[in-house]
Amino acid sequence: MFPVEKLNSIQTPFYYYDKALLQQTLDAINAEAGKYEGYKVHYAVKANVDPALLGIVNASGLGCDCVSGGEVERCLMSGFAPSKIVFAGVGKADWEINLALDANIACFNVESEPELEVIDALAGVKGKMANVALRVNPNVDAHTHKYITTGLSENKFGISMEMLDEVVDKALELRNINLIGLHFHIGSQLLEFEPFEMLCSRINDLQDRFEARGVTFKTINVGGGLGVDYVNPDENPIPDFATFFATYNKYFKLRPGQELHFELGRAVVCQCGSLISRVLYVKKGLNKQFVILDAGMSDLIRPALYQAHHKIENITSTSAETETYDVVGPICESSDCFGTDEVLPVTKRGDLVALRSAGAYGQIMASNYNCRKIPASVVL
Ligand code: LLP
Repeated sequence: MFPVEKLNSIQTPFYYYDKALLQQTLDAINAEAGKYEGYKVHYAVKANVDPALLGIVNASGLGCDCVSGGEVERCLMSGFAPSKIVFAGVGKADWEINLALDANIACFNVESEPELEVIDALAGVKGKMANVALRVNPNVDAHTHKYITTGLSENKFGISMEMLDEVVDKALELRNINLIGLHFHIGSQLLEFEPFEMLCSRINDLQDRFEARGVTFKTINVGGGLGVDYVNPDENPIPDFATFFATYNKYFKLRPGQELHFELGRAVVCQCGSLISRVLYVKKGLNKQFVILDAGMSDLIRPALYQAHHKIENITSTSAETETYDVVGPICESSDCFGTDEVLPVTKRGDLVALRSAGAYGQIMASNYNCRKIPASVVL
């Protein structure tokens, strides 16, 4: 499946993206979300802002979900209509809010009362109304890694259900705020649908509660979170969008004329990307042998940070024999390890190794640690 000959001639390490798979993924999203009236998908650009990928996502009609001024700028540069950009984040700086106001983005997802007051004041200076959705912390357990769980009351995100009435009242009162919706996101890499069902029932109750007070919302944004198959990327290259959207259709009570927004990141771009690296050395230890790659945790930090595992493939070995290796990077940290006891075809210096399912939160989280270069993109 890899264009090995082409990849072999490129300086490693680099991220390789399969355009065709991205397009098929986007087509599946549009087909499945398109079955339901009022469903709109935004791409959570934090997963990957490669300009070629953003161009394809934009051409497919998705909007985008940003979490910084830098991301808003990237999306504008990639040609996304401001009316399709939403801006979230627990700590928006004034310059970021001003940039988004100047661009006339669709909506700010607001995470606290003090933030609401600052947006109101900055919009007032410009004589503008800011569209706002309030991010609610629904206290739903996403059953995922604790670093990517966001919807529990102990997390820093959103406004608690108990305090929401007060903040809604405030939003309705502020002169430069136009309250259009509620926003939720419970966590990332969810492989079960039950937490999404729970989220729906929380939102249904909330909407009943607010409707009883005469408050209605034009949009409900349920965030992202749909996970991907890191174990068998070839068997499941496209996430189960059918069940994902059908779950919302079954459990979420959409009000007449209301829009339901989704912010999918990982599910859009994860499987189309691999980190391609070259074997520098095969080193024999006392009880182990190590494959030492020219890619490390500075290029792909997920294993070190979240104990994540990316499937490791030697894409050039022609050996029919296998051996067991620890696959590690060159960085001076013991956590710079991509896999222990990996069974690979006999591997030698110069072989190309693919770390699969690295299209989301891979290249974008790369750093210059050890004065290393940020890996390049190759989009084929
Ligand atoms: N919306 C909001 C408000 C979010 O915070 C996130 C992700 C998303 C949407 C997109 O979630 P997704 O569909 O990708 O699950 N770096 C971590 C993932 C962090 C996710 C942060 N928020 C990782 O590599 O697993």
